[in-house]
Amino acid sequence: MIIFTLFTIIQSQIAQLSLNGEGLKEQLLQMIDENQLDCQTIQLLITRGFGQQILDLITTDSIILESHLQCAKQSIQNDLLQLESLKKRFTNHENHVLIKPIILWAQSRANILIKVKFAHRIDAPAYISVKNHQIQYLNQNLQISAESDQNNILTKFYLEIPLLNQVDKTIGWQVESVGTMVLNITKIESKLWLHLSKNKNDKFQIWWDLKEQIGKDMEDFSKMLDNQEDHLKNKKKQQKKSDSSQQSSPIKTNIFVAFFLKFKQWLNKWF
Ligand SMILES: *[C@@H]1O[C@H](CO)[C@@H](O)[C@H](O)[C@H]1NC(C)=O
Repeated sequence: MIIFTLFTIIQSQIAQLSLNGEGLKEQLLQMIDENQLDCQTIQLLITRGFGQQILDLITTDSIILESHLQCAKQSIQNDLLQLESLKKRFTNHENHVLIKPIILWAQSRANILIKVKFAHRIDAPAYISVKNHQIQYLNQNLQISAESDQNNILTKFYLEIPLLNQVDKTIGWQVESVGTMVLNITKIESKLWLHLSKNKNDKFQIWWDLKEQIGKDMEDFSKMLDNQEDHLKNKKKQQKKSDSSQQSSPIKTNIFVAFFLKFKQWLNKWF
């Protein structure tokens, strides 16, 4: 709460600075006089493009901000480190990129059909030179992997799906158009599945283009999904009803923030 409030105060100071561009130097000086130019503010100023003005203050007015700059530098470096570690999540090796291929799935009672697209997103162009396709069914997990060295960058594709129910070990697959392939999986027990994956967070799109080709089983599957949706909606409605009796807290919070801001203004005026 306090961090949020302070952040709002800093934001509004910066908004003022950007409105009155020419008086910037005076305002910066005033902020220094009032001891309000802290590490966080400097970092924000730099990210908003006021870095040069700060440098000017140091060179022309020889205002010493070394400790400020040091801590601003530290926090910017921390951001960079975070960016690096984020990057590492996508590239698990110096020189190859790891991508989850995109899949669509359809089913009859007997089979699962999966269209695999080797791309970043469903609507992005597929990689053209995909090779070393490997499809495995191991410990009830479906593993799909392949590689591409398009543009001389080694890209590895890997997706693992813990299948909802058991399937036959031998999985038929063939490369379809450029950068896509189709798997034909045989179910052990002949029935429709509500999901493809055991993992509730896996949300795979349905391959509705096969509705005609597969026919009645896909229609039944579609009804099954509609029923599930209705069921979930009703559940949510009921939850909302029981929640609505205890929902005055956001208003209280706003009053508290407003009060805190007033209090802070008052403090600044008198101390
Ligand atoms: C998938 O395999 C089954 C046999 O298990 C076959 O009857 C069916 O036609 C195949 N589907 C496609 C789209 O290749």
